[in-house]
Amino acid sequence: MKKVLVIYYSQSGQGKQIVENVLQDLSIHPDIRIDFKAIEPVPPYQFPWRDISFWDAMPECVKLIPGKIKPLQTDKNEDYDLIVLEYPIWFLSPPIPLTTFLKSDDAKSILNGKPVITVIGARNMWVNAQEDVKKMIKDAGGRLAGNIVLHDRHQNIISVVTIIYWMLTAKKERFLGIFPKPGISDKDIDEAVRFGPVIRDALLKNDFAGLQQKLLKLNAVEFKPDVVQTELTAKKIFHKFAAFILKKGGPGDRRRYGRLKLFKYYLFFAILFVSPLVSLVFYILYPFRKKAFNKKLRYFEGVTLEEKGN
Ligand SMILES: Cc1cc2nc3c(=O)[nH]c(=O)nc-3n(C[C@H](O)[C@H](O)[C@H](O)COP(=O)(O)O)c2cc1C
Repeated sequence: MKKVLVIYYSQSGQGKQIVENVLQDLSIHPDIRIDFKAIEPVPPYQFPWRDISFWDAMPECVKLIPGKIKPLQTDKNEDYDLIVLEYPIWFLSPPIPLTTFLKSDDAKSILNGKPVITVIGARNMWVNAQEDVKKMIKDAGGRLAGNIVLHDRHQNIISVVTIIYWMLTAKKERFLGIFPKPGISDKDIDEAVRFGPVIRDALLKNDFAGLQQKLLKLNAVEFKPDVVQTELTAKKIFHKFAAFILKKGGPGDRRRYGRLKLFKYYLFFAILFVSPLVSLVFYILYPFRKKAFNKKLRYFEGVTLEEKGN
């Protein structure tokens, strides 16, 4: 019997739905058992979010500062053959509950020596976060063997509007009846079942080498190059804002509300006016930088970790 542990954090349930579909083929196999464990932050992050609490999560996300979570109720003697981590992205970073788990002693005992597959359910900017996650998995002793990313395919600004509406209302519905449905499309979520057979085969053979190449052939990772460039630029600015806000205190500290509001206005300005400009300049220069940029993309779609810059 092969045993899989799925550790996930999903506020709306979208992430749970994705990972269930990814593993559907394994769940019906008689020789495979799957245990699902949700990461539970203490106190829970409100869903729907209230305006200031949404922005208040930014500094700790970006700086990978852990919060509090309930201990995962796993049997310490259980020897899992595969660990699957499902997570959303918060502010170009891993969500605080995942960071908290990955930096815990629990993570060290669960992940040590184990193959790990990450499954991301994002808007469209996940590259920076996955680099942080690669590093934390390695620090906990795990071996990243695969990564699957589902994202919202709508145009960047449209998906910002719809995701904010979704996050602030908890309604995965069309904003004003004119915008598209927020988040990852039902079609993409349904089609995530295509990843199951290759994961199942790797698990049954206990051979995870080459798994990511097989997943990539099934389009497990897709990029819009200008979106990647935008997030790489933005993450540097987020780091500066996070340090600036943290000088005023930790989560919930009213003294930092002014700076959080400044970040919020900066972000709306950047999304509306700067990011289209970044995209335009990117595509003008793209023919000259294509080779170097594509090399970066090949790295981001893989499961190795370049320590420099981390
Ligand atoms: C506080 C917050 C910040 C977010 N920032 C990003 C982001 O930087 N990049 C991105 O692709 N998605 C971002 N999202 C969207 C999430 O990746 C995810 O799609 C959404 O939260 C639904 O996930 P869940 O319901 O499974 O938790 C953000 C969501 C929240 C709540």
